[in-house]
Amino acid sequence: MARLALLRAASLALLVGAGAPALAQQPPGNIAQAGLPEGPGKDLVQGTCSVCHQTREIQQSLGYTREGWRELTGRMVDMTPAPDQQKQILDYLAQHFPPAAKRPAKIIPGPYEIDVKTWKTIKLGQRSRDPIEAPDGMIWYVGQWGNVIGRIDPKTDNVQEWDLPEGSLPHTVMIDKAGGVWFTGNGNGTIGKFDPATGKSVVYKMPVTDAKDPHTGEFDDKGIFWFSLQQSDMIGRLDPATGEVKIVKTRTNAKPYGVKFGHDGTPWVACNGAPCIYKVDRQTMELTEVKLPLPGTTVRRIDISEGRIWYVNSGRGRLGMHDPKTGETREWDSPSGPGSHPYGINVLNGIVWYNESGVRPDTLVRFDPKTEKFQSFPIASGNVYAGIHRNGNVTRDGKSLLIHQSATGYIMKVTPKEPAVR
Ligand code: HEC
Repeated sequence: MARLALLRAASLALLVGAGAPALAQQPPGNIAQAGLPEGPGKDLVQGTCSVCHQTREIQQSLGYTREGWRELTGRMVDMTPAPDQQKQILDYLAQHFPPAAKRPAKIIPGPYEIDVKTWKTIKLGQRSRDPIEAPDGMIWYVGQWGNVIGRIDPKTDNVQEWDLPEGSLPHTVMIDKAGGVWFTGNGNGTIGKFDPATGKSVVYKMPVTDAKDPHTGEFDDKGIFWFSLQQSDMIGRLDPATGEVKIVKTRTNAKPYGVKFGHDGTPWVACNGAPCIYKVDRQTMELTEVKLPLPGTTVRRIDISEGRIWYVNSGRGRLGMHDPKTGETREWDSPSGPGSHPYGINVLNGIVWYNESGVRPDTLVRFDPKTEKFQSFPIASGNVYAGIHRNGNVTRDGKSLLIHQSATGYIMKVTPKEPAVR
């Protein structure tokens, strides 16, 4: 909640345009900081850049030229109403944080190429994420910190955004069979159905107060919405026909995260706090825990293809596969190593695609299970590399991936091409 309050302060103080006063030097409730280097502009950076996140983001970043900093910060906060202060901020950033590959990614070259089409979301610093295609071809996303839901028309490139009910802080957006648009209210314990015709949402509350944070969710083949509640250590289901929500507890600190279905419709849920994956009984919601081999394993997300569960071992910087039929589990080191923190994952035409969020640039990794070969691509936002791909989806024609970059608010459609070299 603190973050929401701060974000609102930011939008009032900084983001609303005309006649906005000088940038706030010290917004109330400044997020705790690791010290920035001394120098002119430091206080301004501290005040302006710690409204949404810690200044550690700056210290751990790739580092940029002045132009790079202008482009990057321009996707987070509109500083043009106060040009003198913007100049001080950019001078400071360029001087103290020039390009300096920290946490470097190991990019694996290879014969495969991708086509990337990009769109920019509207509200600045919104932490846009989770793009998904609806039956009518529209691409939906949410802006978690900006409390918005957005829609891209890929035919016209028109982008539109709406505010969601206050405090929703949407974590994901999902489309039901009829094209209905649903979001998880991670900030206020709700799941909502959004109607673009009216801009209004119908909101379903959690049945118990300690079910606080609906997180990731998916519709099964019967139209039931299954979802995780990471910090509450719970897994839930919502029946849109009746509005009934049921919840079960996982073990403490399992931190249930990504949700996908097996071919028989069984929900599987990743554990972001422990070395496990949960299998959920569709009828009884009874949980079966599949234990993963390595201590320190945590799994942000999974995808399931041909009966095999592909998982990112985020905690150990590895890619994994579990076959529930044979009980076999295998893992591979991710190219950028133990700190690479693999995150979003989708299987597209038998190829596993995931990103390495712990390194810079954030990479999109291609893994072919047949040859066990890796190739990777840095994910750009315009002229800069910044942010994390957190959750994506395969397009309905099965040909492309929808991904995003959280820091810059870019949404991308990635289409793998045939290999240039065979
Ligand atoms: C309105 C909110 C907001 C404000 C204000 C803001 N940022 Fe950000 N920033 C974001 C979001 C969203 C991300 C992505 C965070 C995530 O993925 O968890 C981010 C991430 C970053 C990153 C990390 C990029 C990477 O490598 O992943 C840097 C660097 C950064 N911000 C710099 C700044 C600077 C400098 C300022 C001040 C001029 C600033 N931010 C102000 C929203 C904001």
